[in-house]
Amino acid sequence: MAGLARLEYRGYDSAGIAVVTADREHLAMAKKAGKLAILAQELKDRPLPPGTVAIGHTRWATHGAPTDSNAHPHMAAGGRIAIIHNGIIENYASLRSELEAVGVVFSSDTDTEVAGHMIAAEVDDGKDLAQAMRDVTRRLEGAFTLLAIDAREPQTVVGARRNSPLVVGLGDGENFLGSDVVAFIEYTKKALELGQDEVVEITPDRVVVTDASGAVVARAPYTIDWDATAAEKGGFSTFMEKEIHDEPAAVADTLRDRFNEFGKLKLDGGLIADTILGSIDKIIVLACGTSSYAGLVAKYAIEHWCRIPVEVEYSHEFRYRDPVVSVKTLVVAISQSGETMDTIMAMRYAQQQGASVIAIVNVQGSTIAREADAVLYTRAGPEIAVASTKALVAQITATYLLGMFLAELRGNKFPGEVRAILEQLGEMPAKIQRVLDTAEPIRALARSMAGERTILFLGRHVGYPVALEGALKLKELAYIHAEGFAAGELKHGPIALVEKDLPIFVILPSPNGPGSLHSKVLSNIQEVRARGARTIVLAEEGDEVAAKYASEIFYLPEAPVLLTPLLALIPLQIFACELAGAKGNDVDQPRNLAKSVTVE
Ligand code: M6R
Repeated sequence: MAGLARLEYRGYDSAGIAVVTADREHLAMAKKAGKLAILAQELKDRPLPPGTVAIGHTRWATHGAPTDSNAHPHMAAGGRIAIIHNGIIENYASLRSELEAVGVVFSSDTDTEVAGHMIAAEVDDGKDLAQAMRDVTRRLEGAFTLLAIDAREPQTVVGARRNSPLVVGLGDGENFLGSDVVAFIEYTKKALELGQDEVVEITPDRVVVTDASGAVVARAPYTIDWDATAAEKGGFSTFMEKEIHDEPAAVADTLRDRFNEFGKLKLDGGLIADTILGSIDKIIVLACGTSSYAGLVAKYAIEHWCRIPVEVEYSHEFRYRDPVVSVKTLVVAISQSGETMDTIMAMRYAQQQGASVIAIVNVQGSTIAREADAVLYTRAGPEIAVASTKALVAQITATYLLGMFLAELRGNKFPGEVRAILEQLGEMPAKIQRVLDTAEPIRALARSMAGERTILFLGRHVGYPVALEGALKLKELAYIHAEGFAAGELKHGPIALVEKDLPIFVILPSPNGPGSLHSKVLSNIQEVRARGARTIVLAEEGDEVAAKYASEIFYLPEAPVLLTPLLALIPLQIFACELAGAKGNDVDQPRNLAKSVTVE
């Protein structure tokens, strides 16, 4: 149950566990719709018999509503077999018809249950659980992590994966399986990744990994470089608040010791030859949601520093539109979890077209990190709250590093120029800390705005992705209609939304520096104020005119324009978190969402 609690961020529509008990014919099971706390209460009211081998699951519904019967585990063979599943079995309908034709009765609407009955048929034929799993997964299409237990093999859990994560935790006289190492970090920091289409069999003292044909595969364990306390709230009332406060460290850690003595970026794995990086003619950033906004910030920075065109595309759109990709394309896949199915698929498609892929990923050993040609880890530590915060600032930092490296490699910047930007970047963690230390007024504002129905966000240049992220945070946490716009676009249509007292956040650029868009954004503010809007302005410290244009104003430390998203994002994250809390929403687990979207 503690492991499930740590995994609950991945899905929280329903939860269940199945336990091997002394009874060699039947497993014991409890499952309930709703959050894990409901299952915990059920277990208190009706405890299961004791056991030391069990499987558990928290669900994010795809096939079948979040009800008790659709919750996992699913039983088969009259309660002898139980399985749990992440992902989608795409050919489940035809498999279900096949099973129903031979008299199998289903007790759920899920795609998962077919796999349970198929495994039951194989073990009935005399196969052991691991062989049954191999034979069944061969017939499944789609994405899955599957775990199964059999009352007649009381010491064993068998797992399999395709396009969905599964990690083994190696303990002393005990072993674990989890979708994420957080599930077992309390017990061991030694882990082992499973490859595509591999099957693993664990007992308390043995771990055997086999490929689809049954041949044993040797896999080297690795050590998880953070401990259980990193995945706890550390005195904050929500993970999100804690993770926002981790942001100075996330940026500092991501920057630490990144360039070698020859000015070469130290990657965390893999390699893309300098000759390839020197000859690329475009970069495509593939990502979803918040991670895609890191990509948008990267576009402004990398195009400016490196003079290479950068396209930013949602992963789920990319491979369905015949994109122009070649061996001269560098794909940058950005993902906190490293398991977002849309991004995995898009990245694979790009690789098939000959592109090199560098992954910017937070979770060590995740699928995107493993499959990319090279990986640059963000060192944000575990991000548990569903809404991404510290991972985003770490991702933006990593794209800056990549941009500077490419700029020097391709001769667009001298080493001294790169060092100067790195020094400015090195000052950002302290500046982020100052934003955090002075955030009480933004919290108070958020509490006073819990009744708002629509809030808009405007920004230009790197302020534009900040505006998009401000709106996304508010939608996902506070369930308020929010939109982010490029401020210049407003007059082309969205200004029709503006009415008296409509709150509009504006990310105002610095008045200093060549080509500043300060006066342009001030004009955009005038346009909305003339129509009665209430403008909440984020301005640079020392900006003497900004206050005249603001109903409320918040000042941010001065920084080079391309680095300002690292500061401007923070008050917007705090605003959304506080406002959602004031509405009584579950900040860490907003409705309808899951942290890592492992289905396409
Ligand atoms: O794990 P990833 O970075 O690939 O996830 C991408 C998005 O699903 C994620 O950023 C999502 O938008 C968050 N809920 C935003 O807070």
